[in-house]
Amino acid sequence: MSDGPTTPATDIVLAEWAREIQPSALQKMLLASSRPNILSLALGLPAAELFPAEDYTRALAQVLATDTRALQYGPPFTPLKKHIVALMAERGVKCEEDQIFLTAGAQQGMNLLVRLLLEPGGTVIMEELTYTGFQQVLEPYRPNILTVPTDTETGIDVSAVESLLMKGARPALIYCVTHGHNPLGSCISASKRARLVELAERYGVPIIEDDPYGFLSYEETAEPPMRAFDSQWVLYVGTFSKIMAPALRVGWIIAPQSLMHCLSIIKEASDIDMSTLNQRAISAYIEAGHLEAHLARLRREYKLRRDTMLKALREHFPAEASWCKPSCGVFIWAELNAELKTDELLERALIEEQVAFIPGEAFCAGEGGKESASRSMRLNFSHCSTALIEEGIARLARVLKAALSSTASSSSSAPRSSL
Ligand SMILES: Cc1ncc(COP(=O)(O)O)c(C=O)c1O
Repeated sequence: MSDGPTTPATDIVLAEWAREIQPSALQKMLLASSRPNILSLALGLPAAELFPAEDYTRALAQVLATDTRALQYGPPFTPLKKHIVALMAERGVKCEEDQIFLTAGAQQGMNLLVRLLLEPGGTVIMEELTYTGFQQVLEPYRPNILTVPTDTETGIDVSAVESLLMKGARPALIYCVTHGHNPLGSCISASKRARLVELAERYGVPIIEDDPYGFLSYEETAEPPMRAFDSQWVLYVGTFSKIMAPALRVGWIIAPQSLMHCLSIIKEASDIDMSTLNQRAISAYIEAGHLEAHLARLRREYKLRRDTMLKALREHFPAEASWCKPSCGVFIWAELNAELKTDELLERALIEEQVAFIPGEAFCAGEGGKESASRSMRLNFSHCSTALIEEGIARLARVLKAALSSTASSSSSAPRSSL
């Protein structure tokens, strides 16, 4: 029999991938920007004062008073699936209840799909700038990430995706945010969406279509998601986080019925069940007819906040900055046409004006696009009141102008090259 180690072990040995994880740049900045007295345009939080607290309280009370299964483990709640089918039909997506898989939010939806599709070390195609939460989902798989450029107005570069596929790349999945991209605020143009779906079908590559912001459209006619054009290769991820409240932790996947069995096994292993109570209460809330009016209110209010931010940007920001008008979602991406790093600018903004944003580099999924991202910032317009948005942009503009003038004076005093 072995005598065992002579000295007690000191450190728990982590899995190889976990040994390498670092707090993301985003996490570090979130910590800094969540300090008291900071006017934060950083996080993508919904407006707390617009949460449907009263109507949801009534829905919860009704469920608790009448449904003895509401606090028990239980199967996915079919009436909620019916409501999701109807919601998606309004967006031009035809699906059946048996193609809906309920999740604890979009983040879990992505996690389950990645677990289903990606082998360790497998390949994934995504944009150079993308949602950091998805990058974190991938980490345990240590995948081969192929990034493609993305346009701040029309979204993912589909020609670049095609060229990767033509050169022989066979990714397990393509990830994109179709509407109200995080961080760019962009929507994938109709022609690009059609081409991307066509590529997915031709090469047999599933697309994870992450769509938390698609219901928050500020145009008269909103474009349908990619799932409207394909029911086999587009795996749609939706959520109630942005249209009701993130704390409910209820979302959904729309996928072929053949995947439901595997998804339910993976979900069971991950967290057994989802909130039986919230599934039923959301269903009762929608049944009572509240969601439509609530969504209309959210769109009205967020559109006003978006327009307030755009106006403040026009009034206060220097000519070196440019940005797009998002038709959907909660973010504006502003880029500086100047030698100014926005991560350094954030430090000044926090100290000098107590205002926060997220520097663009935090969203880089690889080396591509880093240069312009390091001169960019993500600004959120859903969380703050219009007054705070105006104030925040004015403060940020002051920091920006001061930084630009110090850069200009330091470069004019620098030794000049003879060439
Ligand atoms: C693009 C994107 N996907 C997914 C999520 C996560 O959503 P949920 O709260 O439903 O998990 C977010 C949250 O901000 C997001 O921006």
